Amino acid sequence: MSVLVVSGTGTEIGKTVVTAALAAVARAAGRSVAVLKPAQTGVAPAERGDADEVVRLAGGGVTAAELARFPEPLAPDTAARRAGMAPVGPAEVADAAAKLADEHDLVLVEGAGGLLVRYDEEGGTLADAARLLDAPVLVVAPAGLGTLNMVTLTAEALRARGLVQAGLVVGSWPDEPGLAERCNVTDLPKVAGAPLLGAVPSGAGALPPDVFRARAGRWLAPALGGIWDADAFAAAVRS
Ligand SMILES: Nc1ncnc2c1ncn2[C@@H]1O[C@H](COP(=O)(O)OP(=O)(O)OP(=O)(O)O)[C@@H](O)[C@H]1O
Ligand SMILES: [Mg+2]
Repeated sequence: MSVLVVSGTGTEIGKTVVTAALAAVARAAGRSVAVLKPAQTGVAPAERGDADEVVRLAGGGVTAAELARFPEPLAPDTAARRAGMAPVGPAEVADAAAKLADEHDLVLVEGAGGLLVRYDEEGGTLADAARLLDAPVLVVAPAGLGTLNMVTLTAEALRARGLVQAGLVVGSWPDEPGLAERCNVTDLPKVAGAPLLGAVPSGAGALPPDVFRARAGRWLAPALGGIWDADAFAAAVRS
């Protein structure tokens, strides 16, 4: 697996933090890593984008790439149109990811918002880029109430497009999970039709980067390069 598309159920759910954890464990295993944020919206030119945030958390050995930056915090297609700038379409995303994959062991492509957010006027999405790359898609999801529906919809959209869902990762697992969060650990993989492959604790993104890197492997399952144990996690939340 040299290109992994990191998508999710929406925005502000922890895709960037999960991408940073993936990059950190891959670097720790000696793999070269690039992170591609095709369209970065809502960030001024001098500000840190998601790819920069991944490098900050995962370490300077990670290559950060961005194809376009649009200032308003909107879907890429809308933000490009309003800025009078050229949008970034799926073919361009796939091209850039494939080039990075020539030079890196792992390329992580972080989408904007959820899976079917539009990138261009033709309605191209990250799912189209994943198709062109024949790359699996990792779905990041919140922990709580409302997530089962969003994960079901995302899994259905992936299947309808013939895409492989690598699995699910909870973007921000609360210190004190409530009933919905605890039940979701059992139900999320069922509705996704894909395994739960990790949970990043809430607050992880604010850890000092060296601590983040040292701990990242504990949040991700072996399939993603870590040591997180789904059964032990499920048993702990049930008790
Ligand atoms: N596990 C976590 N620990 C600490 N902070 C988190 C965690 N998950 C998310 N956050 C915080 O929540 C906010 C949104 O997270 P993040 O940037 O990862 O979302 P996203 O899904 O990548 O959103 P976007 O669609 O904008 O890319 C950020 O300020 C981030 O620091
Ligand atoms: Mg992000």
